[in-house]
Amino acid sequence: MSDQDVIKGFDAAILRKLFASLKPYRGTVVVSLLALTVSAAAELAVPVLLQSGIDQGVMKSNLDHLALVSLAILAMILIGMVASFFQVYLLSRVTQDVMKDLRTSLFAHFQRQSSRYLYNHPIGKLVSAATSDVATLSEFFNTLFTSLLRDFLVMLGVVVTLFVLNAELAFYTVLSLPPVLILVALFRVWSRGAFRRVRAQISRVNAFLSEHIQGISIVQLFGREEKTREDFKKENRGLLHANLTELMVNAVFRPLIDVLWAISLGFLIWFGTGLSLEGTLTLGVLIAFINLVGRFYQPVGSIAENFTLLQSAMAGGERVFGFLEDHQPVPDTGARSLSEAARGDILFDDVHFRYLPDEPVLNGLSFEVLEGQTVALVGYTGAGKTTITSLLTRMWDIDGGSIRFGGMDLREFRLQSLRGGIQSVLQDVFLFNATIYDNIDLGRGLPLERIEEVCRHVQAHGFIEKLPEGYRTVLNEGATNLSAGQRQLLSFARVLAQDPRVLILDEATANIDTETETLIQKALGELLKNRTSLVIAHRLSTIRQANKILVLDEGRIAEEGTHEELMGKKGFYYNLYKLQYEKKAAV
Ligand SMILES: Nc1ncnc2c1ncn2[C@@H]1O[C@H](COP(=O)(O)OP(=O)(O)OP(=O)(O)O)[C@@H](O)[C@H]1O
Ligand SMILES: [Mg+2]
Repeated sequence: MSDQDVIKGFDAAILRKLFASLKPYRGTVVVSLLALTVSAAAELAVPVLLQSGIDQGVMKSNLDHLALVSLAILAMILIGMVASFFQVYLLSRVTQDVMKDLRTSLFAHFQRQSSRYLYNHPIGKLVSAATSDVATLSEFFNTLFTSLLRDFLVMLGVVVTLFVLNAELAFYTVLSLPPVLILVALFRVWSRGAFRRVRAQISRVNAFLSEHIQGISIVQLFGREEKTREDFKKENRGLLHANLTELMVNAVFRPLIDVLWAISLGFLIWFGTGLSLEGTLTLGVLIAFINLVGRFYQPVGSIAENFTLLQSAMAGGERVFGFLEDHQPVPDTGARSLSEAARGDILFDDVHFRYLPDEPVLNGLSFEVLEGQTVALVGYTGAGKTTITSLLTRMWDIDGGSIRFGGMDLREFRLQSLRGGIQSVLQDVFLFNATIYDNIDLGRGLPLERIEEVCRHVQAHGFIEKLPEGYRTVLNEGATNLSAGQRQLLSFARVLAQDPRVLILDEATANIDTETETLIQKALGELLKNRTSLVIAHRLSTIRQANKILVLDEGRIAEEGTHEELMGKKGFYYNLYKLQYEKKAAV
């Protein structure tokens, strides 16, 4: 998070969006604001009643009036409490609802975005937008309505009441306002700087922590504990200093406000007593003034905290709405279903693709996979093999040429139908922190027998059965309670359960023990049987099973043929084979 991210001040556009998010709860907000007004009015009524009680009751020894006024004060306090309860409760409910809505829209929004969008936004930022940034917005509503708006109403009410009670004295009292306003303005500047430093330092500490906790084993393996501890101490100390500066600004502000309050009170008593001696001011009015001025200064003191809260809410709001407005979905305009394609062949025709503007990955790539064939794709690391699989499932869209399935452009199909029929087993297996059953079923609700059958086919049933809770075993985050080979088998099962028309397999490069390797070989045979498939092969055995081998180099097919044909050519494949596969085969 850069400093720029943090401080944007009060952006009218963000405010408008924040208020727009309140729209569905308009009714509740109005009731809550009414309750707020009532509670502020009840608060102001107390000093006015006090004045009447003293002047008409105490000074004139009218006990009946005094009793009446006491009851009225009690009633006002009670009304104020009840109104304040409703205001806080209703507003907090609305705030929680708005947060829930924002989290839902953010998640739905992220799900609709293309890989390009997700590639451009670090995952950490997306997660914190939906959690902590949304949470700061709740502070916005709470602070704005409960503190700022109410305080403003009370302060305004105090000034008006002062003038109604005694204009001359009110005039002198209000003279103390300009220094207060100047102090608040100065404070805004100080606190903004301090707040900026704290936020910047917090994000440095967060980044340091998350990186070094994730990479803790590297730190331990290379014995860098002490060095990283020193580095962390430095960042941590920076945060301490930033926090202390902020504390200092806040700590200085309140006493200064208290001093102004005291001075203003001194003036009030001085002038008040003078006027009182002249007979133009009653004791009741003087006491009411003292009481009212106290109510005026009280909220000023908490402006400090409120201001900080509002600043971070603005920054949070900017990120939340920034994400929501950045909309880059994969265009889903096709109407056809994949089953409409009579043939099941795949054709890449002069395909061009790049992730970044000046770094072409595919350069006029053309090849064909006939229905029912297994085609193996080989090439050096970084050649663009995984990229080809992402293009077939339209995780990314191509920049030029065309990709056809059964003679039709991929874009003619509905995205959901396309991805349902062309499935890929990814190079890096991703498993959810859920049961084995859930990881294979993925919410389709298949019967357990079907899942078991699929797992038997891909040789996963054996090890699953041996787990303490079988298919109900919950996987750790990152499935660390399984071996790499077992994770691979589960990813096969997941795809086989869907029974896709086309299978793309990006074989994992990870080394696997021979026993699991044999299991995987068998499983692969089952997966590929009678299915159109494109296999990015790292194992020689898989390559040999293929009907055709494509050799990828510099973004296009450099050679193509069977293993024997390509070996005979003594070209690119021959060298690749010598380098990669022979060595492995020897191990
Ligand atoms: N999301 C991305 N953004 C930018 N560049 C990328 C992205 N993914 C891959 N690349 C680049 O595209 C090129 C092809 O990557 P790809 O993952 O397709 O290689 P690969 O042939 O699958 O390699 P490997 O055998 O190591 O899996 C690489 O140069 C890589 O740096
Ligand atoms: Mg790859």
